[in-house]
Amino acid sequence: MKGNLFTKLALVAICAVMALSLAGCNSGGGEDSTGTNAGGEVVESIGTDGSESGEGSAASTGGGEIIMGTNAEFAPFEFVATENPLIDNFDGIDIAIALEIGKELGKSIKIENMPFDSLLVALETGKVDFVMAGMTVTEERKQNADFSNTYYVAKQVIIVPEASEVKSAADLNGKAVGVVLGYTGDMIMSETEAVLTRYNKGADAVMDLVNGKIDAVVIDSAPAASLAAKNPGLVLVEDAAAFENEEYAIAVKKGNTELLNEINAALQKLQDAGAIEAFGQKYQE
Ligand code: ARG
Repeated sequence: MKGNLFTKLALVAICAVMALSLAGCNSGGGEDSTGTNAGGEVVESIGTDGSESGEGSAASTGGGEIIMGTNAEFAPFEFVATENPLIDNFDGIDIAIALEIGKELGKSIKIENMPFDSLLVALETGKVDFVMAGMTVTEERKQNADFSNTYYVAKQVIIVPEASEVKSAADLNGKAVGVVLGYTGDMIMSETEAVLTRYNKGADAVMDLVNGKIDAVVIDSAPAASLAAKNPGLVLVEDAAAFENEEYAIAVKKGNTELLNEINAALQKLQDAGAIEAFGQKYQE
């Protein structure tokens, strides 16, 4: 079920099915494979030590390091992990992709974890060089950042208790629905007759759902599958007619074409090698 959902989500532009080697698709359990396939030698991120704070764009400091802004509350794309995390204590599809992009660029990746709605501001002020956070490209966000090519296609889905009578998005009218503040699910549901509660992270919304405080949660498909998998008794309701495809992309500061081009080239290589799809499979729950 969850697997199906994930597969249906169609990682974009996967070319060679056989070229999965880059991501070590045979790894299954994913213990040491994590470190190794992601590049082993590479990218021990430069913890808290040496960053000259108050510096402008970190990219322009040149020092072999590039700073990624994310919000690690969005498994399977980015989450805090204790076991074999890829970079510092962070793991997930986006982290794995970023690590590979870093290799292509010859830079180590440093991660700045922050609230989701701070990410594009951090980009604008030069606190981070790029943002990778399962971020959907929207017209509004395009005013404030430039986006790479799409690396993943998602959709909103509804999480409900098994016994729920909610079978479609229309059934949410008048219901108590949890969304995460500033996520596309928030924007979309704000246009409806649902009665919204806005949470800081998906896990908090799901906790209230489990406790019967709200009737449903609307969030991106892969995180929804992850959250439902962790909470027996919850199921996913898809409504392909109500929810449009959303494209995830990497954001750079407006006008930073040089970095954008480099990122796009690296993404293309990864897609051609089937690596992005392999990361998707690896982190699916
Ligand atoms: N795709 C949604 C959006 O762009 C949710 C992204 C949330 N990502 C995160 N790392 N918390 O609004």
